[in-house]
Amino acid sequence: MPTKFRIAVVAGDGVGPEVTREAMRILSTVGEATGIEFKFREMPIGGIAVREMGAPLPPAVLDECLNSDAVLLGAVGAPEFDSLPREKKPETGLLALRHALGCFANLRPAVFVPAIADCSPLKPSIAAHTDVLIVRELLGGLYFGEPRGSRNDDPTVCINTMIYSEAEVERVARVAFDQARLRSRKVTSVDKANVLETSALWRRVVVRVAAEYPDVQLDHVLVDACAMFLVTTPSRFDVILTENLFGDILSDEMAALTGSLGMLASASIGGTVDLYEPVHGSAPTIAGKNVANPLGAIASAALMLRHTFKLEQEARDIELSIRAVLDAGYRTADLQNGRPGKPVSTQEMGQLVEQRVASLIDRRHAYHAV
Ligand code: NAD
Ligand code: IPM
Ligand code: MN
Repeated sequence: MPTKFRIAVVAGDGVGPEVTREAMRILSTVGEATGIEFKFREMPIGGIAVREMGAPLPPAVLDECLNSDAVLLGAVGAPEFDSLPREKKPETGLLALRHALGCFANLRPAVFVPAIADCSPLKPSIAAHTDVLIVRELLGGLYFGEPRGSRNDDPTVCINTMIYSEAEVERVARVAFDQARLRSRKVTSVDKANVLETSALWRRVVVRVAAEYPDVQLDHVLVDACAMFLVTTPSRFDVILTENLFGDILSDEMAALTGSLGMLASASIGGTVDLYEPVHGSAPTIAGKNVANPLGAIASAALMLRHTFKLEQEARDIELSIRAVLDAGYRTADLQNGRPGKPVSTQEMGQLVEQRVASLIDRRHAYHAV
């Protein structure tokens, strides 16, 4: 097994650099405790890249990402860039990176955490037992479909195109069924097949792929009903397989249901290099204040260890440490809101997780040494 991994770090805008710093802190600690070397190469993406290098994904940054073992991203976007033409927007840099890396499957796990049950808008009896993995198709649908833009150069009429091929649906469906086999063996495919042709195709292909997985249960739910079931009976879901935009929307809903958008992690896999990023955005109003929740970024680092580096034990160490810190009552501002707990900053939260990760790994090494 290689003991050296090269990680491209593109922290981006807003709270991106603050939360990414804490994820890097945890990876460094795992490295020190295990002897694995994580070599970070930090570069700009998004708004800061536009400002410093004139483009949201400069070619040199993309090259470095393509030559790395994994990419760790913070967030992109800020109000000052919202009026730029599309090719200069920070978000365009992120979409171009996903596309160039070829990561078509975006895994977004959301789990009910008893220690922060009071942060969910749901009654604990409804939120309990929620453990969902959203598998979001990441390179198709409305995000990339052509034609797009103003129609016939008439700025008063705009077009986006939702387009899916069977091949695109098939490959992401396989990821969902494979993931379900590692969980509770249930896939819920979410679409709008009562209205959209792309969804009818989606459903047809998912049914075909499901035949290869007789041990995995499949059902279909329309996206509007899914948004409702997530708040009434979230425990009915295991793996949710859905297209790009539906997955974007449902994952923010999922995040709120399990406590805070700041908690959710993601792994984008299936291409040449895997990409890891928290689900949240650049949260401009709280940026630079050392108050953002870094746990989504830290949990994304755990996903990197699991999926790309095959370091399952260390990934679990990080996840257990996050749980332990929350169990001990520590909360960043998004988890407080007048509720009881020990208030901590972004950096303090990172340090608390770091201490526990280090002691979990040291304890295991000591155990194996005797
Ligand atoms: P957002 O996710 O940045 O923020 C939504 C809400 O959640 C805000 O109240 C914010 O303060 C809060 N929040 C988000 N992350 C948090 C964290 N780590 N800790 C505590 N609170 C947190 O979404 P938005 O406000 O709709 O978008 C802001 C910018 O971010 C936009 O430019 C958008 O395009 C961009 N964005 C980027 C990504 C990404 O880079 N992956 C994802 C979503 C949005
Ligand atoms: C996300 C974000 C992005 C998306 C934006 C910033 C392009 O909302 O990662 O969820 O829509 O995919
Ligand atoms: Mn989103």
